[in-house]
Amino acid sequence: MAKAISVDIPPTLPETVTPDTPLDQLNLNWSERDLPERERTKHVHRLHPYLGKFIPQLVEIFLRKYFKAGDVIYDPFCGSGTTLVEATTFGAHTIGSDIAAFNVLLSRVKTAVYDVSLMRYEVLDILEQVRQWREQGLFHTLLELPEHWDQASEYLRQWYAPRALEELLLYRALIPRYTYQDLLKIILSRSARSARLTTHFDLDFPKSPQTEPYYCYKHRRVCQPVGEALKFLQRYSLDTIRRIEAYMAVRKPVEVQVLHADARSVTLPRLIDGVITSPPYVGLIDYHDQHRYAYELLGLPRAEDLEIGAAKKGTSRNALQRYEEDMIAAFRNTARFLKPGGIVVVVVRDSRGLYANIAAQAGFEILGHLRREVNRRTGRRATAFYEDVFIWRKS
Ligand SMILES: C[S@@+](CC[C@H](N)C(=O)[O-])C[C@H]1O[C@@H](n2cnc3c(N)ncnc32)[C@H](O)[C@@H]1O
Repeated sequence: MAKAISVDIPPTLPETVTPDTPLDQLNLNWSERDLPERERTKHVHRLHPYLGKFIPQLVEIFLRKYFKAGDVIYDPFCGSGTTLVEATTFGAHTIGSDIAAFNVLLSRVKTAVYDVSLMRYEVLDILEQVRQWREQGLFHTLLELPEHWDQASEYLRQWYAPRALEELLLYRALIPRYTYQDLLKIILSRSARSARLTTHFDLDFPKSPQTEPYYCYKHRRVCQPVGEALKFLQRYSLDTIRRIEAYMAVRKPVEVQVLHADARSVTLPRLIDGVITSPPYVGLIDYHDQHRYAYELLGLPRAEDLEIGAAKKGTSRNALQRYEEDMIAAFRNTARFLKPGGIVVVVVRDSRGLYANIAAQAGFEILGHLRREVNRRTGRRATAFYEDVFIWRKS
């Protein structure tokens, strides 16, 4: 049974948590005032949009309660890297795995060590190259445009205005000249997301390209389809520099490994002290598809067939059974590398009550179960719901 969190306990501030803080004294129901958006999206946590993140303060609380500096923390479903980033600022070594190549790229970029002045120089230099080309029409002398243009996939031609696609392709062609190529790919991808021919109010799940002016529910006026990418490249370049600088000021000198692998079968390079993770849930999100533009532009390998619980697999009885088996396999595999007595924190909306069985089958003893209200998601999925937090110990 989940412990109902008493309203008498004030919301827990992560920095107040110590190993002695009792589990039932944790109140994870923060209001906007307790935990404003800028805190939830601090430094690299908002380097790129990603649907299905958990909030960094949850990770921070459980790092402080159960772990110490120097431990090794693993996230088998690392997604956009929230656990990994928090581990590096806490002082723990960390390993992540994910089946989606874009998520691996994003997690690596967020947790890398940067020479801040070189990073700043490169981010501004590539931007300047694209800007100069746009101003002076230098594209054909800098690169062989037709070659790049011909390589653009059907999807890219369909979802971008010609000028926007030219700018994105030029930026992409320049990336190999620099040291921090993965970081530049993330800036490119974030800009490409904003430069798609979508309406302003449907960036998460656009159905078809918007090529004509349209009534915009977000801005309450008629808006034009996006025609360029340069303004987004500019905006996100400056934002990225600021975020990386802020992160480097708090990142500890710890080791990070992000593996592009299936959680059910991955071999970890070392033993782990604990796990903090939020697994995919049944039939909720397609993790590859949400970054389709990035896969198309960066030519990343896709493995959606191995994605557990993908939305397109549905929520039928079969899909549920398959999900349960897959999760048992993933946590069993994780347990192989976990030191005896190691703690696993799982954050998931377990609306079908599957996780007690998953824990037992994977060989874990249940230490606790908290529930928290999630009442302010951004974007179109702005509905209140509960999230479960399970604490297991390797038995
Ligand atoms: C809920 S998200 C994790 C989000 C993460 N906690 C964060 O804050 O960004 C679940 C992740 O599991 C990944 N995933 C799905 N099937 C997987 C598998 N078989 N092995 C490894 N990762 C998988 C998805 O690609 C997705 O990134």
